[in-house]
Amino acid sequence: MDLSIEKTINQKLHTIFQELNLDPKFAVVKVSDRPDLSDLQCNGALALAKQEKKNPREIAQAIASRLEQDADIEKVSVDGPGFINISLTDSFIGRIIDNLSADDRKGCEKVASPKKIVMDFGGPNVAKSLHVGHLRSAVIGESIRRIETFVGNEVISDVHFGDWGTPMGMILAEIINQDGNLSKAESYNIEEISAFYKKANIRCKEDETAKETARVITAELQNGNPEYRKAWQHLRKVSIDAVKKNYDELEAHFDLWLGESDAHQASSDIVKIAADKGLSEIDDGATIIRLEETNKPKPPVILVKSDGGFAYQVTDIATIKMRVDDLNADEIIYVVDKRQSLHFEQVFEVAQKLGIAPNVNLLHIGFGTVNGADGKPFKTRDGGVMNLEDLIKLSKDKVRESMPEPDKQYNAAYIENLVSEIAIGAIKFQDLKNNIASGYVFDLEDFAKFEGKTGPYIQYAIARINSIIRKAENIKSGNVIITNPEERTLALKIAQLNNTVMRAHESKEPSILSDYVYTLAQTFSTFYNVSSIMNAESPEIAASRLRLATLVRDILAMLLNLLGIKSPEVMLKKA
Ligand code: ARG
Repeated sequence: MDLSIEKTINQKLHTIFQELNLDPKFAVVKVSDRPDLSDLQCNGALALAKQEKKNPREIAQAIASRLEQDADIEKVSVDGPGFINISLTDSFIGRIIDNLSADDRKGCEKVASPKKIVMDFGGPNVAKSLHVGHLRSAVIGESIRRIETFVGNEVISDVHFGDWGTPMGMILAEIINQDGNLSKAESYNIEEISAFYKKANIRCKEDETAKETARVITAELQNGNPEYRKAWQHLRKVSIDAVKKNYDELEAHFDLWLGESDAHQASSDIVKIAADKGLSEIDDGATIIRLEETNKPKPPVILVKSDGGFAYQVTDIATIKMRVDDLNADEIIYVVDKRQSLHFEQVFEVAQKLGIAPNVNLLHIGFGTVNGADGKPFKTRDGGVMNLEDLIKLSKDKVRESMPEPDKQYNAAYIENLVSEIAIGAIKFQDLKNNIASGYVFDLEDFAKFEGKTGPYIQYAIARINSIIRKAENIKSGNVIITNPEERTLALKIAQLNNTVMRAHESKEPSILSDYVYTLAQTFSTFYNVSSIMNAESPEIAASRLRLATLVRDILAMLLNLLGIKSPEVMLKKA
């Protein structure tokens, strides 16, 4: 069953090339750069002519006259130096769309050799609530997780909890400072623990001795002091419970809830391997690895700090070893702020040198910051860091304003659930419509609007098609018949789905999907303006259009799901 326009035409060309004794590796088409002239183009004759030192137009002409005989081809022309422009028959396009609509995956392929991918995103820290800086990691990471799973890879996501650095010692020191000891430590809730951390932060900034105490406690904690460990276990658990709530709300899924602390043993191993290989040295009491500086200065990587504690970098190196040894990762993907690029470059280079991740693809996907209207990192009104929870609440409040009063059909709980699906969708789409690497301005005015390039616009488009389908309940969908140019454009757009998903997967760029989703919704709307189902010219055309509408709905919902966004069955709006 042909599910791809390009593949089907490539096969036809392949046969023709062979018949003409031409190298079939050039028998490939792509979507035309000039949709006004043709649907597809093949530039193979030009490359062939170069290779065989022949006239490109002659080769192109020979190919074209054979291709023209094919019943699926409407028109072929040779243009310019030897471009072959190909137009397809409406019935061929219709047939492909019929096949796609019958296919569970709507023609989306899976990768030829599935990989085991460990994804590291989230990166929350003990005692700190999630803030807007954690948003992109969760939103982008979750979308890539879903895309990679969809194309057939096995993905294991790990939150990589920040639970092992100096902040741990700072909090413990602060509790001791207030209570005299740690006997009450296990009674504190997340707000109290966060308050300790805030106080500790201020104190350590002002007071060198406090900083020193925190450092000593951190090192002792890492070395296994039982009293510290016990209190720390509690801090860790309470913090995880708190961030889990946030991630659940964002529907970011983590298979593993490991932390930096879980790499403690492996960190010792790394220090040993580095020493055995003669790669590390002691510098000012710290154990470091120097890196070659090719074209830019690279600071050395710190494994063990001078106080004996493990540094942030060694935990990441050790974690790579665990992911390779224990999880058999073929690829490890980090979705972390691009300001940590140097850190990852260093970590990957050391992993390479130590030989702990042979043949493993290590990839840092660095994202830009979420900014406010002033172009600086997004802040609350009073200039503080915006909590993720507050941002979500703000977004929900905004969406709630546009909701009708609850009634018999849609009660308050229903509306509240809808508010949440729209608000989260709006936040995520506003993020995922941008290239990962660029930062973006969080637009408090427009992001939740029902028109424009927003999440709610797409959700609305889906709900509208749902209602079109409900109205057509007495019609049975049937073979696609192309009757007007808008219908044809829509069908060709649909046929681009597989390519689009594959590109998003290959470049790890969900914005490729959000672009497609947006233009597909627009293309559908243009189509539907001129192509009624209920008043179609014939029952067959009504059946065909119902099939197209259903397919577009299914594709939009499928792609929103890959972006991590829900598709409500109906959308409500204040009258
Ligand atoms: N917890 C870190 C921070 O807040 C981010 C962790 C990123 N992931 C990693 N594997 N280093 O900066």
